[in-house]
Amino acid sequence: MTPAAAPPRVLLLAHDLHSPGTEELAHTVSEVLAPAEREHVLRKRLAADRTRTLIGRWLARRAAARIVGAPWTTLCTGQRLGGQPYVVGRPQLSLSIAHSGRYALAAVALGARVGVDTEQVARVTRLPDDAFLGPGERAALHAVPQDEERRAALWVLKEAAAKLTGQGLRAGLRSIGFECPGTRFPLVARTPYAAAQFRAFRLPGGYVAAVGVSAGEPPRGPVFVTPTGPVPADRGTARPPSVK
Ligand SMILES: CC(C)(COP(=O)(O)OP(=O)(O)OC[C@H]1O[C@@H](n2cnc3c(N)ncnc32)[C@H](O)[C@@H]1OP(=O)(O)O)[C@@H](O)C(=O)NCCC(=O)NCCS
Repeated sequence: MTPAAAPPRVLLLAHDLHSPGTEELAHTVSEVLAPAEREHVLRKRLAADRTRTLIGRWLARRAAARIVGAPWTTLCTGQRLGGQPYVVGRPQLSLSIAHSGRYALAAVALGARVGVDTEQVARVTRLPDDAFLGPGERAALHAVPQDEERRAALWVLKEAAAKLTGQGLRAGLRSIGFECPGTRFPLVARTPYAAAQFRAFRLPGGYVAAVGVSAGEPPRGPVFVTPTGPVPADRGTARPPSVK
């Protein structure tokens, strides 16, 4: 008999909000949320933001459920003062959620802190350097031919780090300096701001995402999930493990 695979210590799940069935899924999730979670969702003014938040919470519960070996409908999430999300009654788990445009992501880690972020490259391109880059980062970027993906990767790395510590934007993105020596995605990155290892990777359709963990290896990319199960990642993203 083959032994069952050990549960992962870090799991990063993603959902493409353009995929069919997303609105129905969001509706189903809203029906099973705990009152405090539903209240959090209802605070979002735009319907599209409510959908993103619902899907983020669904991914969070699914990732946590996979790690602890419980049905996702039996877990629930909350947020600390300052906004950092957590899995209720599971202090050994760290949770991070991100959503932007086409994607929602959630990362859960067992016995380590985790942070995740995603953004459309074109949106970061419109931001001035001084909105988020420190002098060393600007110099490093200007030393190579214009690379908007790499520049956007710095944005998501910084936000992932700020979420990992729970400081959020209060950390000041310019003061979170990153070094990512490699040239190919997924980029491996570190920052003196947080004792953690980070990776930045591409998502299909002109997006980048980053994940950091305070112990162990960060995932090389997300596992894409649909209401009915995992789907293979598109080309250009790392091949994910499967999720039940
Ligand atoms: C955390 C923060 C960087 C999120 O950035 P964003 O680009 O707006 O949104 P993202 O989709 O990337 O992330 C949203 C998720 O971050 C998480 N989050 C919010 N505050 C967080 C914090 N302090 N630490 C970790 N995660 C946080 C939430 O889970 C949220 O998802 P949800 O609302 O669906 O639960 C930002 O909202 C923030 O710093 N908030 C803290 C409060 C603050 O400093 N406000 C000042 C605003 S000028």
